Amino acid sequence: MKLNIAVLPGDGIGPEVTAQAIKVLKAIAMEFNHVFTFNTALVGAAAIEKTGLPLPEETVSICENADAILFGAIGNPKYDDPTTEIRPEQGLLGLRKTFGLHTNIRPVIAYEDLLNKSSLKIKQIKGTDILIYRELTSGIYFGEKHFSDEEASDVCTYRRSEIEKITHQAFKAAQGRKKKLTLVDKANVLASSRLWRKVVTEIAEEYPDVSLECRYIDNAAMELIINPRQFDVILTENMFGDILSEEASVIVGSIGLLASASIGDTKAMFEPIHGAYTKATNKGIANPIASILSAAMLLDHFGLYDEASLVREGVDKSLKLHITTPDLNTKYDNISTTKVGDFIEDFIHNPDETNLN
Ligand code: IPM
Repeated sequence: MKLNIAVLPGDGIGPEVTAQAIKVLKAIAMEFNHVFTFNTALVGAAAIEKTGLPLPEETVSICENADAILFGAIGNPKYDDPTTEIRPEQGLLGLRKTFGLHTNIRPVIAYEDLLNKSSLKIKQIKGTDILIYRELTSGIYFGEKHFSDEEASDVCTYRRSEIEKITHQAFKAAQGRKKKLTLVDKANVLASSRLWRKVVTEIAEEYPDVSLECRYIDNAAMELIINPRQFDVILTENMFGDILSEEASVIVGSIGLLASASIGDTKAMFEPIHGAYTKATNKGIANPIASILSAAMLLDHFGLYDEASLVREGVDKSLKLHITTPDLNTKYDNISTTKVGDFIEDFIHNPDETNLN
């Protein structure tokens, strides 16, 4: 298969982790006779510094011409001042909006080999396997904004059509899993949540084999920690999904492990859920697994399931052998970002022989 991939490394640790994902994709291309081409473009603070804009035209056109986008990370504390108008994050939000990437999928899996890395009890998290479906192009993130010294507001609007799209995707995903879908909202307070409940409940009739439960966000946030195994597919709006998925990283042991796919009608982007972690830039300590697993989601998206499985096997083996960065590692203290990438690359070339050397 020929794939043209736009690579947007972004800020902070983004370039380091993305380099490992590319390494892995190149190894896959070699072993399975695919032709993957990579075109790198600027986004976020890196783009503001060079062009004055967080999402330059050239980046949009590179993405337009690509089959998929591989994204790194975004943000820089330099832009934290509340009055700053041009911000790195606008680059990411602009990409999501420009390419209509409405459905964001975030898997949360408690790896057997990492159960003791979570600050939660092993018996609480063992066996957790959740797919979070987060709506990504609407809600409070994209509503009208107003900011002054005395008053500020962000409008949260949802249209039926926006809810319908992701809801069908989430029900279909649940059909292929444990057949349970949890809608997370705040329908006791928010009108937008009441529309979510109405639309999702109506659509549920088309999927009689899936059981639907509805939970308020405050309760879901607590239950996710107390008993994460009760969840299968979680469906939620933009901001609740952002918060719940970051919370879920506590179950997994490190946010450096959580990957995501953002799917639109004609384009898809793959990105780790972690941020730019500016303090760690170029120290070789950033965990590349989230980026590598995002690349695996990219392969799945194009139906390259054997290829994606091989990448995941490589990740599993690296975790089993403690070939992990310091956020997870207790056994060796010198495993760098690059070393993890190298290990998984070697595994793809020689799955039966790769060990720590
Ligand atoms: C994420 C991030 C982004 C978001 C930020 C960087 C704009 O937190 O992808 O989860 O809030 O969506």
